[in-house]
Amino acid sequence: MNSYSRWASEELDKVKKKIEWVSENNKYKLPYTTDENGIYDNKADKNKEFRIDDGLNWWTNGFWAGILWLIYNDTKDKKYLDYARIQEEMLDPCFDIYYGLHHDVGFMFMPSAAADYRLTGNIESRKRALHAASLLAGRFNEAGGYIRAWNDLEGCDTRGWAIIDSIFNISLLFFASRETNDPRFAHIATAHASTIASAFIRQDGSSCHIVEFDPFSGERLRSHAGQGYKHGSAWTRGQGWALYGFTNAYVNSKIEKYLDTAEKVADYCLLKIADDAVIPADFDQPKEPFYEDSCGACVIAGGLIELSACTKNRDKSIAYLDTGYRIIRKIADSRADYSSACEAIVKNCSAAYYCQKHNESMVYADYFYIEALYKLVNNDFKTWQ
Ligand code: GLY
Repeated sequence: MNSYSRWASEELDKVKKKIEWVSENNKYKLPYTTDENGIYDNKADKNKEFRIDDGLNWWTNGFWAGILWLIYNDTKDKKYLDYARIQEEMLDPCFDIYYGLHHDVGFMFMPSAAADYRLTGNIESRKRALHAASLLAGRFNEAGGYIRAWNDLEGCDTRGWAIIDSIFNISLLFFASRETNDPRFAHIATAHASTIASAFIRQDGSSCHIVEFDPFSGERLRSHAGQGYKHGSAWTRGQGWALYGFTNAYVNSKIEKYLDTAEKVADYCLLKIADDAVIPADFDQPKEPFYEDSCGACVIAGGLIELSACTKNRDKSIAYLDTGYRIIRKIADSRADYSSACEAIVKNCSAAYYCQKHNESMVYADYFYIEALYKLVNNDFKTWQ
């Protein structure tokens, strides 16, 4: 055990202690964020709201199950398997509702159904994951070689839109190809990843958030601002999705271009990350007000740790691992709440730069924090690969 893994192992003891009681409290919830009393909300309660991609279809609804599978993989305590399966079954109506499902089914079903199948062989979970993969593959636009983001939005034609987050979702397609021994899904995944690499990644290694293509000719038309500070800026969580997503795409496909792309984004992030390892909501945001995104921090850290094992450049490998560790250490030392005052662990998240509320908790920040700790102890279940 090296010093990183010794430290991470001690941190994981605190995580497991907390998840033990939080999981008891949240057996029948699909948690996203906590309220002013530190209690998790329940996305299953919001199913009848106007936005049908909210509620049961909300894109983060696989992450609580994902946390439970990470802990189960470590402890083999059956209660986590049981709780995770309740989560998975709660998502079943999404397939019947159909209309609200979107490009983020990889986020929803890789850490839940696919993880269940891969860890336990549960055949029902395999079916759910393959069903979700088929829906994702159905969103592919052949003319532009991209997977369409979102569904029809009022007053906004999104038929030609793709977003950087989607590079993470294609792990589900690689999984489906491995499972069915049919390359169709992987063909779509690599076509999409290649489009993202050429149409999103800028000269300096940063990534756009949204790119619009002509949905008929496939021509790249323009980029749009998304959850970041402004059009053309570098929304940090988006940089994390790109860095970690291209690393996964490389591991899943062995296509070198994706490793080069992951390194290009990682090198950009390394130049931007401040000495104190606190990650802003956008790398290009003004000094004041300072909005932080601990969630983006955990995604970037996980990607850097994973990439350090893939790069063939020894100096880069050391730099990626060291920076990933520093970021996670910062979260653990000053942004992690192991008390009983709040059900979530990671504090100081921003869903978007222009959100009314900052310094929130978000279930996927906890997921990526815990996942990164397991990477440091070399006991991670590779959810995305
Ligand atoms: N996938 C949306 C986000 O990162 O907020």
